[in-house]
Amino acid sequence: MRALVTGCAGFIGSHLTEALLDAGHSVVGIDCFNDNYGRAQKLANLRQVREWTNFEFVPIDLSRGDLTEFVESAGVVFHLAAEPGVRSSWGTRYGRYVQNNIVATQHILQAGRGREDLRIVFASSSSVYGSATPGVPSTEGSPTRPISPYGQTKLSAEQLCGLHRAELGMDIVCLRYFTVFGPRQRPDMAFHRFLRAALLEEPIEVFGDGRQTRDFTYVQDVVAATLAAASGPSLPVEVLNIGGGSPTSLRAALEIVQELTGRTLEINHAPREHGDARDTAADTTLARELLGFAPQTGLEQGLQAELDWLAPLVHEGGSVRDGSVARVSDVAQVGDVAVIS
Ligand SMILES: NC(=O)c1ccc[n+]([C@@H]2O[C@H](COP(=O)([O-])OP(=O)(O)OC[C@H]3O[C@@H](n4cnc5c(N)ncnc54)[C@H](O)[C@@H]3O)[C@@H](O)[C@H]2O)c1
Repeated sequence: MRALVTGCAGFIGSHLTEALLDAGHSVVGIDCFNDNYGRAQKLANLRQVREWTNFEFVPIDLSRGDLTEFVESAGVVFHLAAEPGVRSSWGTRYGRYVQNNIVATQHILQAGRGREDLRIVFASSSSVYGSATPGVPSTEGSPTRPISPYGQTKLSAEQLCGLHRAELGMDIVCLRYFTVFGPRQRPDMAFHRFLRAALLEEPIEVFGDGRQTRDFTYVQDVVAATLAAASGPSLPVEVLNIGGGSPTSLRAALEIVQELTGRTLEINHAPREHGDARDTAADTTLARELLGFAPQTGLEQGLQAELDWLAPLVHEGGSVRDGSVARVSDVAQVGDVAVIS
């Protein structure tokens, strides 16, 4: 298979790219080093895949132009590039969400127009649901009522996928990922912030009362589902939930962080942020039936893996305070890909 992975330098995209290369596929990876967090972390994410001869990196912004030449040689497009994160989608950065989530997706879809042999797998989000009713996992048929501008742009992108599927007969599936964690997690995400604070013995800020629940999903389980969605015959559904299956409160997750790090955390509660869902929970019956999806890694094991990744970066003098989790040597080693600003 020749695959195109957009967002290949990001948290999930870099793991997916590695899995594809490990499985013997050729990959063209696109990323523009969006400034949602430090470029150094994204460069470090790419360090391993750059060793592969069947990996080609294309540093372009998907929202800027015609993508036909990149899509035409691919059998599968994994479209993961996006402006993620709920909190910063309010305010003046919203235009970036429109560009990177809606316009970029439309460009990918248009570049794949007329291609009967192309599968497109789009990384969507549980944010399209808004808050779930406590104790009632969201099914793919649950109402979509985003409560953040981020969720709204992901839903718009899903709708673009849906209309290309319905109107042009394109082979597209949208995977609604639920809070993904593990090594390389984005620095704005809760577990990364909690682990970093514990390692540096700094206080942490928890938005809301900590009783909010999330259906945390380990990154390799997400990768497995994403790969499965690209193989076999066209899927009979437009969207699938990909969730870990054990919704857990932030408080309970914090207890695990304290156990794993051996540190007692100083927790400061800040008001709940607008757009933060109270609860998320995935019904993954369809993904189990259609993709054989069965999450393998639980919260404690996955948090340990994230800690194992983050700890050396903190202890060996990496700059983690600004979200640029990489040593200077990482940047120098792969600096030649940093050709666009
Ligand atoms: N991390 C999660 O918990 C989570 C949950 C639900 C959905 N998702 C979705 O999964 C995907 C990956 O998320 P992530 O957490 O790995 O984020 P990430 O920010 O680490 O990765 C996204 C990558 O896309 C790149 N990118 C953004 N806009 C681009 C553009 N216009 N052109 C080229 N590259 C561009 C960024 O530079 C970045 O490297 C996103 O679509 C996100 O919405 C993530």
